[in-house]
Amino acid sequence: MKPKVLITRKLPEEIIKKISEVCTVELWEEEETPIPQEELEEKMINVEGVLCLLTENIDKKLIDGSPKLKVISNMAVGFNNIDIEAAKKKGIIVTNTPNVLTETTADLTFALLMATARRLIEASTYLRNGEWKTWSPLQLAGQDIYNSTLGIIGMGRIGEAIAKRALGFNMNVVYYNRSRKLDIEKSLGVQYKELDDLLKESDFIVVMTPHTPQTTNLISEREFKLMKKSTILINTSRGGIVDEKALYNALVNKEIYAAGLDVFETEPINLNDPLLTLPNLVALPHIGSSSINTRYKMANLAAENLIAGVLGSRPKHVVS
Ligand code: GLV
Repeated sequence: MKPKVLITRKLPEEIIKKISEVCTVELWEEEETPIPQEELEEKMINVEGVLCLLTENIDKKLIDGSPKLKVISNMAVGFNNIDIEAAKKKGIIVTNTPNVLTETTADLTFALLMATARRLIEASTYLRNGEWKTWSPLQLAGQDIYNSTLGIIGMGRIGEAIAKRALGFNMNVVYYNRSRKLDIEKSLGVQYKELDDLLKESDFIVVMTPHTPQTTNLISEREFKLMKKSTILINTSRGGIVDEKALYNALVNKEIYAAGLDVFETEPINLNDPLLTLPNLVALPHIGSSSINTRYKMANLAAENLIAGVLGSRPKHVVS
């Protein structure tokens, strides 16, 4: 008998087909709403594998209530939506989809950095609203990107890909990481800094660290006060690493120049959130890895990880 698996959102036809060849698939068909937690809990009782997204909360209760579960295949590189310890205790494999999204996420991070620095969204709205009457000297003037200092917090694969892009703009790149990356320092000429020094010296700060208990609110009131008034903060990793209340205050009080966020503490962000009233905040709906090619590759990799996990062979990308 084929092992039973749950897929928590519609995926491309050919990916579902590939999984169906070896598994009996149950699919959450709604594209615009995630599966409610109670329904997820109910469906998980009978499955050996789940292919889920970062919108699913795979907590201890869910894991403990899934007696047949062998593998949790997350279609994302980040896995803070999964209680890894609870899975480990039960001998359940957790997998993710690294590498295939590195360059696409670095592209988006750079696009957001540039859009924020040069006020692209504001400028486009200005034009469409009929406010463009003439050319004038300081109209929509922003911050220069070239020759500036970029501070990357979290020098993993995506951090490195961002650094490579920055060098093309003649940026001076500094980084902070739990451990030094001497190979990257040597190959790219980037410089390690203690976090406070990076915060003080950078014109742009990119948050690219995983979300863990240690990185929750890593950037908060104290950290904003260390930054320059001209600094631009970009977060394309996970909400919760940047304290949103402290960010709001820093933007309103002009402690920093602007911010670009692709991720939020709560997703989707509430439309009444005060952050969304600020012209110096560029907000995107968590689209870091969203190119057609990359999303296909992620879905395919998640499918391969799922299939390997339920068939008892070792998946390519095991996080625990
Ligand atoms: C997206 O945020 C991911 O972690 O892949």
